[in-house]
Parts: sequence; C-alpha cells; structure tokens
Amino acid sequence: MDTKKFYITTPIFYANAELHLGHTYTLILSDILARYHRGIGDETFFLTGSDEHGDKIVRAAQKQDMGPQAFVNANVAKMQELIKELNVSNDLFIRTSDKEHHWQGVTKLWHALEEAGDIYKGIYKGLYCVGCEAFITEKELVEGKCVNHDSVPEKIEEENYFFKLSKYAPEIKRLLESGELKITPKSKVNEVIALIEAGEEGGVLNDVSISRPERAIPWGIPVPNEPNQLMYVWCDALSNYITALGYGRKDDENFKKFWPANVQVLGKDILRFHALLWPAFLLSAKLPLPQELLVHGFVTSGGKKMSKTIGNVLSPGEFISEYGLDSLRYYLAREVSTGEDWDLTREKFKEVYNANLANGLGNLVSRTLKMAEQYFEGEVKGDTTSVPPLRTRIQEVEALGDLPGLTLPYLITSDILPRYHVHMTAYEVNKAADAIWELVGHLDQFVTDYEPFKLIKTDKEATEKVLWGLLYGLREISTMLAPMMPETAEKISELLGAKVGKEGDITFSSNVPSEPLFMRK
Ligand code: MSP
Repeated sequence: MDTKKFYITTPIFYANAELHLGHTYTLILSDILARYHRGIGDETFFLTGSDEHGDKIVRAAQKQDMGPQAFVNANVAKMQELIKELNVSNDLFIRTSDKEHHWQGVTKLWHALEEAGDIYKGIYKGLYCVGCEAFITEKELVEGKCVNHDSVPEKIEEENYFFKLSKYAPEIKRLLESGELKITPKSKVNEVIALIEAGEEGGVLNDVSISRPERAIPWGIPVPNEPNQLMYVWCDALSNYITALGYGRKDDENFKKFWPANVQVLGKDILRFHALLWPAFLLSAKLPLPQELLVHGFVTSGGKKMSKTIGNVLSPGEFISEYGLDSLRYYLAREVSTGEDWDLTREKFKEVYNANLANGLGNLVSRTLKMAEQYFEGEVKGDTTSVPPLRTRIQEVEALGDLPGLTLPYLITSDILPRYHVHMTAYEVNKAADAIWELVGHLDQFVTDYEPFKLIKTDKEATEKVLWGLLYGLREISTMLAPMMPETAEKISELLGAKVGKEGDITFSSNVPSEPLFMRK
C-alpha cells in the first residue's frame, strides 16, 4: 500500500502570555488528528510554534522591563513545557525569531510577491489594533472599539509597502465557492465570501499594508533592501507554515514532500488571515493552497469570555493535576464540537468525568479484568467466531436471515469501526469519540445480557466466550482511543495482554490494575 503524506499545522501562538484552555484546544485537536494519521500509516508532519514579533510582544516585554528576545525566550520555554505536558506529538516547533530556519523563507516569499508585481509603496492612514496586530476599518468597530479586544484602536499614518490583496479576491472567491479551498465548518465559507463581497464595495478587502516603519526597538524581519521597514507581523507569521518545511532554504525536502498542508487548524478569530491573506500570498508566489482550513469556536467559562479581569480564566494545568491529562484530552475530544463555541466550568468537567470515565470506561475495564482474573486467572482464549451475539440485537440480526458466523466484531463493532474512521478522516473528532463510547455502552449491555457473574456457576465454557468478547471489545476500544487518550490506550492494551495466534485467534493474559484508571471524584 502506498503511504500517503499528511501535513497538519496549528497557528503559531503569541509568545506574550501563558497558554490557556482555548489554545490547549487548538493543540489537542490537532494532536489527535496527527496521531490518528500516523496510526493509520500516513507519513505525517505536525507543526506548531510561536509567533514572536510585532508591537504586542514589544509592549508586553517593556512592561516587564525586558528586552524582546529575552522575553520571548522565557515565554517560549514555558509554552514548550506545556506542550510536552499535554503529550502533543508535534514533529517541529518553529519560532519566528529563528533567523536560520524562518527568516530566509520569509524573505524569499517577499521576493516572490515582488516579482509577481504585487508589492507597492503607499501611505497608510487609518486604524491599527495592537491586540489583533491588524489594520482595521471604522466599519468594524463597535462603539469605537475593536470587538476582539474591547480597546480603542490607534490612529496611524505611515509610509508602508502594500500587497495587492484586491487582485486575488475574485480568484479566492471562486476557489471557496468551488470547494477547491475547503473550509470546515461550511458556514465559515459564507462568512469569508461575505467579507470579499463587502470588500468589493470598498470595505475591508482593499490592498493591505504588509510592512511597518521600524520602531524605537527594531523587532521583526527587515524588508529586503529597505532598512527602515519591518515586515508586518502577519506576513511574517503566516509564512511559518512553509518556512518550517524548509521553503527558502537548501534543505527543502520536507517542503517538497509535505506542502500543501492537508489541514490547517485555527480558531475563528483568525479565519480572515488564513482564508484571505494566506491564500493570496500563496497565489501570488505561485504556490499551491492548503487543502482545508479547520476552524474551531471559542471556549468560554460560565458563559463569559475568559478574561483576567473577570477572573474566569481556566488553565489546563488545573484540570491535569486534578483529573489527569487524558481526562482533559477526553473532554476536549468528545465534549467539544469543532465548529461551535463551548462553555466549560469545573462542575461540568467533574460531571462528565464521573459519568464517562470513572463510571463508563473505567468501570467497564476494571470489572471485566476482575472477572477474567477471578474465573480464569486472567487467561482467556477465543476467536471472533465463538462470541455470542448481543442479546438485544439477536432479533435484529435474525431478521437479516442466515449470516455466516455471528461474531462480536460483526454485531458490535462492525458498524462502529467504519463510522469511527469516517469521522476521524472528516476531522469530526467528537463524533469519532461518540462512536467509541457507543461501544462502551454495547459492552455494558453485553454484561447485562449474559450476566457472566451468574453464568460462571453453571457454564464455564460459555462464560469464557462472553469474557473473551468483552476483552476483544476493550481491545478495539484501546485502538480507537490511542489518538485521543494515548496513555490510557496504552495502559488498557498492557492490561489486556493480547497475543494474536496464527489463525487470528487471540489469547488474553490480562491483569487487574492496581488502582482504577479513573478515580471517582
Ligand atoms: N499568533 C496568532 C496566529 C498566527 S498563525 C500564522 C494568534 N495567536 S494566539 O496565541 O492568539 O492564538 C492561537 C490559537 O488559539 C488561535 O487558533 C486562537 O483562535 C486560539 N484561541 C485563543 N483563545 C481562544 C479561546 N478562548 N478559545 C478557543 N481558541 C482560542 O492568533
């Protein structure tokens, strides 16, 4: 079988503050998809990194009496620590202050835009929101303020370089309408098209400024042959998706192999940059566009945007120390629907944890393993043809007429597994997780139907078949769980101790865990 390549990116995170649960979601969602694709054998490259230039950073550094480089170094170290703690399996972490790996590519991209005749000098007179690191128009303000940052933008007038974004608007519109540039969820396509159409009437989609005059503290990538100008931070930042692969460097094998990205994951606040500016840069440089932008919503806490002033900022660390990392990964995988905003409170987290992890999965694993230990000293032999059907489904199956081998895989997992894969390949992680917990439910039902704890008194052979079915089901669960909850999946798989024989039969040499996988809270 030919291996396919899979390139997935997260946005690069501003190196001005600690990452919170919103950023954590972007990271975990991407990690699940990367791990899934690695697991099915795709040659996978997973990129994340830090966005280190721009006024926002310089000002934050000044507030702490630090130079920008020392400031970002300290923040990036914390960021990388958290990424490790989250068990994120990125292949590379790109830093935009990395001259060797990032700057050359950005400069090459600038030259490519220049060669296409898409860069010209002009005067920018208007508003700039430092929080967004973006030029914004009066039209976008609510009560004179930027809606994302609730702050009054700065009025600026300066000589800048401009990029002919307007030239590419019709082509981007066409690509979006034809689905050649896919955005998930689909509703976001209309949002971008609306922006383009508003631009056609002289709104936001004018040419954009892509440089800023050098500041008192020069902190950014210089515009080639123009010592007084620095590149606009989004121009520098978006390029990371290709510079990380070696674009603009001699060692560009990864660029040749992995670009265009299969999917770029991002939050809804930065859709405009990824769906307009980024494709326009790529079209201008005659580079292929990413296949898909996967856009997720925002996490709120108690119905309100997380903010330090309200005091409702939730940090990933708090959940990890109370419930364990995989419980947090579970929550983000299953309880969040990618396209929508979602609310998180400590109470909700606890409720879901107890219902689905301590009781649901954890309980199923421990009672199955305890029975295997008690009745068979952990050694349970069997194969897929010997498992009795789920009683609740017997009638359903009988109605289909004669079927060869009424096996557990057929009855229980046959439609769950393909559905799991369909959802994972469509980036619908929460639906894939639902499929796993559907199997947890089926296995619970299996215990209710056959009552192995009673059956053992009358029929040891039949009990072994039932237990084997349960262990087999758990094995399927551990495989499907691996991208979402890697440590738990590994633990379950070790506890099961499955050995596959020549004929495809499986013997389990299982163990009872010394403590529950998920302690009730
Ligand atoms: N540096 C830019 C991205 C440049 S990519 C070329 C940036 N950084 S960020 O640190 O502010 O955000 C990184 C990601 O975290 C974005 O996808 C953003 O949408 C996401 N989130 C930040 N706050 C969030 C929530 N409250 N909820 C969910 N995601 C949020 O933007």
